[in-house]
Amino acid sequence: PSKPLVVVGSVNADLVLPIERLPKPGETLAAASIETVPGGKGANQAAAAARAGYPTFFVGQFGKDDPNATLLRGALNGCGVDLTHAQDVAGPCGTALILLQSGGENSIIIVGGANQASWSLSEPVKQLLATAGAVLLQREIPEQVNIEVARLAHTAGVPVFLDAGGVEGPISPELLSYLAVLSPNETELARLTGMPTDSEDQVLAAAGKLLDAGVKAVLVKLGAEGSLLLPGRGEAPVRQRAFKAPEVVDTTGAGDCFTACYAVALLQGCPPAAALRFASAAACLCVQRRGAMPSLPAREEVELLLGAEKEE
Ligand code: RIB
Repeated sequence: PSKPLVVVGSVNADLVLPIERLPKPGETLAAASIETVPGGKGANQAAAAARAGYPTFFVGQFGKDDPNATLLRGALNGCGVDLTHAQDVAGPCGTALILLQSGGENSIIIVGGANQASWSLSEPVKQLLATAGAVLLQREIPEQVNIEVARLAHTAGVPVFLDAGGVEGPISPELLSYLAVLSPNETELARLTGMPTDSEDQVLAAAGKLLDAGVKAVLVKLGAEGSLLLPGRGEAPVRQRAFKAPEVVDTTGAGDCFTACYAVALLQGCPPAAALRFASAAACLCVQRRGAMPSLPAREEVELLLGAEKEE
């Protein structure tokens, strides 16, 4: 049996407000509706991996005084995520206020809630990390937790992926030194390195700086431009164009879907180029549907799209 994927990270109730455009300072706009949707970068990644057919554990924290915890647990369970090692802590769940603009772009404000409450890793969780196929992290939980998790996994020889999405600010050098893959989008890459990322050469130079900092590989998400993998120092970059979505409805969760599906495909033995293709197809399906977790595609859908593209 395959060694499981373990996602340690955030889970949020996403409050989604569809609007035409962002309000200007002092301006009041009306949204057509308000909807509570399951999300959070960690939970989205766990759900994406499980939907892609891979055995996946989610290690995260739910607020036990929050009725949204039931919705969030139910959604993760429904995707097939194993919640044995998730915790309930005092207070509310994490929340994300998502201003969803027409065209699918979003602006997000998060309130940490249970994600930012104190964490302690139990012995069974430590065991799980040391025996996982891979560990996936993001930046919506305390950095110290990410460091401890990455240290445990890395010491046991388990590859650690960090999606740079979440809080801004530098990543600790210790955490960088444990990473098999760091996956930023171009904005995150620019912020992390202080370098421009407007052209491919610039993206490659900035990604190279992260390799110098000790990261083994850098996977840059370029949105509609596709993705670029720098597999290691002196190795040729691998490019993947984005699959064309007939209509982009909501990009929320697409980056999470991409990173998780890339990890799943690698764990299933795909070479990096094929893993990038799988992840791109999954992300293309994700942007065509509303919501974070509800928009994540099932494996069959991804395979169908990959098959259809081959025939063209
Ligand atoms: O990456 C998308 C996620 O970011 C949303 O689901 C929201 O919860 C925010 O954390």
